[in-house]
Amino acid sequence: MTPGATKLVPMNANASRVALLGLGDMGAAIARAWLAAGHAPTVWNRTAARARPLAAEGATAAATPAEAVAEADLIVTVLLDDASVRATLDGLDLAGKDLVDLTTGTPAEARARAAWAAGRGARFLDGAILAVPPMIGGPGARILYSGDRAVLDAHETALTVPAAPAYLGPDAGFAALHDVALLSAMTGMFAGIEHAFALLREEDVAPAALAAMLAPWLTAMTGHTHGIAAHLESGDYTKDVASNLAMMVRGNATLRRTAEEQGVSSELLDPYFRLMERLVADGRGKEGTTGIVDLLRA
Ligand SMILES: NC(=O)c1ccc[n+]([C@@H]2O[C@H](COP(=O)([O-])OP(=O)(O)OC[C@H]3O[C@@H](n4cnc5c(N)ncnc54)[C@H](OP(=O)(O)O)[C@@H]3O)[C@@H](O)[C@H]2O)c1
Repeated sequence: MTPGATKLVPMNANASRVALLGLGDMGAAIARAWLAAGHAPTVWNRTAARARPLAAEGATAAATPAEAVAEADLIVTVLLDDASVRATLDGLDLAGKDLVDLTTGTPAEARARAAWAAGRGARFLDGAILAVPPMIGGPGARILYSGDRAVLDAHETALTVPAAPAYLGPDAGFAALHDVALLSAMTGMFAGIEHAFALLREEDVAPAALAAMLAPWLTAMTGHTHGIAAHLESGDYTKDVASNLAMMVRGNATLRRTAEEQGVSSELLDPYFRLMERLVADGRGKEGTTGIVDLLRA
């Protein structure tokens, strides 16, 4: 601890004794949220220099992962990927402790981590952060959790500080699966946004002016998600279809020609267009786009 720094103490005798492993952008934001809320985490980072500013703010900096977890009952990892979590936790005594992994990973990695933790006598909860670092500790941040509910119950006070928790069930892979579903949807949306900017790139139009039109348009279109859900639940893919596939595939030709006229590649849109065309060729032109969900599983 830096000389002269104020050492924080846990808020009450039952407060979680937290060890936070990983002080990248996200880990540091979580540490600061805990410090601001009066918690006193012990922190460790592979590159020790990143722990120093947090020690100056009241955290206890540990020299090794083993030192960080020794007195902790809650261990939180926020590392780059599953391999770095494995490398960091390797050989630690986790018996009787609770492990929460907020590192982004796949469902299989989370399930394997749950089995690994159980083999070491630790309870395990996987978490997926739905926020960027500046949102941590604010009202818009959420963390999806799955795995051992008892971990969330035991440490709810500490775990609620960085972000509102949403528990998805005992399958440790579920938080990661939902996280990746949301990130995948976002990726497709970003692809469309970038294509739109490319179309107007050479015109005398301020990008901010296009952004001002795009953002509300995309927001208005999000109702499509509920339409797809209703189709998948009822099995009737023609119900309440506002824009049918046959019409949309015609429109796609206009989107492709416009891209060509503007000297823009349609490579971000083409794979999606091809799936729509397959459905129309199968005689499903009166449906909406829901059939693509089934094509992707085939
Ligand atoms: N930033 C975001 O917007 C965001 C949003 C949601 C979820 N997340 C997730 O949060 C996690 C951390 O993200 P971040 O933004 O904090 O990343 P970051 O700033 O790149 O930090 C990566 C952290 O992992 C550590 N690390 C990397 N390889 C390691 C290894 N082999 N052994 C030990 N430590 C290792 C780094 O230590 P060094 O300092 O020594 O390099 C650093 O503490 C990721 O899984 C990310 O997907 C991030």
